[in-house]
Amino acid sequence: MKRQIRQLINRFPWLKKLLKQAMQFLLPGQGVSTHYMEVTQAEAGSESARLREAWKDDELPVRQRELVDKQLAAYRRSEAVDVFDVLVKSLRELQDGTGTMRVLEIGCSSGYYSEVFRIAGLDVLYTGCDYSDAFIAMALQRHPGLQFDVQDATALKYADNAYDVVISGCCLLHIPEY
Ligand SMILES: C[S@@+](CC[C@H](N)C(=O)[O-])C[C@H]1O[C@@H](n2cnc3c(N)ncnc32)[C@H](O)[C@@H]1O
Repeated sequence: MKRQIRQLINRFPWLKKLLKQAMQFLLPGQGVSTHYMEVTQAEAGSESARLREAWKDDELPVRQRELVDKQLAAYRRSEAVDVFDVLVKSLRELQDGTGTMRVLEIGCSSGYYSEVFRIAGLDVLYTGCDYSDAFIAMALQRHPGLQFDVQDATALKYADNAYDVVISGCCLLHIPEY
């Protein structure tokens, strides 16, 4: 029965939307993990495979950049941006004063963390990689002089010990075989 209802909902997007709205009305403020639908093991496999490739969509860099630019503008005005502040604080704690820290970011999108580190005045040599050609193209265009590579997080080709610190934010959750 549950399965039939789920199939029905998946077949008619308008019904899914209607039910979602009804749920939000009846159960407001339930947090981020509400209104989800259970999937079978077989469906989970195909959904994971579909979502795994989703970040390669060529339209995403421009859309994500619209959000990031707002955060970067606030950061330049010395306003607190939690996600930036936490990472900058962590890297400062790791710096031991012996010179430039080589940092690799995996899943770097358009490389905006290199801007964060520059604004914060961190002494780092930044490299970014991402599996999306479109994101790396934007990163190279926006940050000439920095190294950006198209690489998949599950098959990195960097040499051992090439970096002092490796960071990766909000990336693992998109990689089923993490
Ligand atoms: C949510 S964004 C995070 C961007 C940035 N790291 C941050 O913390 O804001 C996820 C990024 O991971 C990249 N990504 C997803 N799967 C990847 C994989 N298998 N290998 C490399 N990059 C991946 C996406 O293209 C996207 O740029």
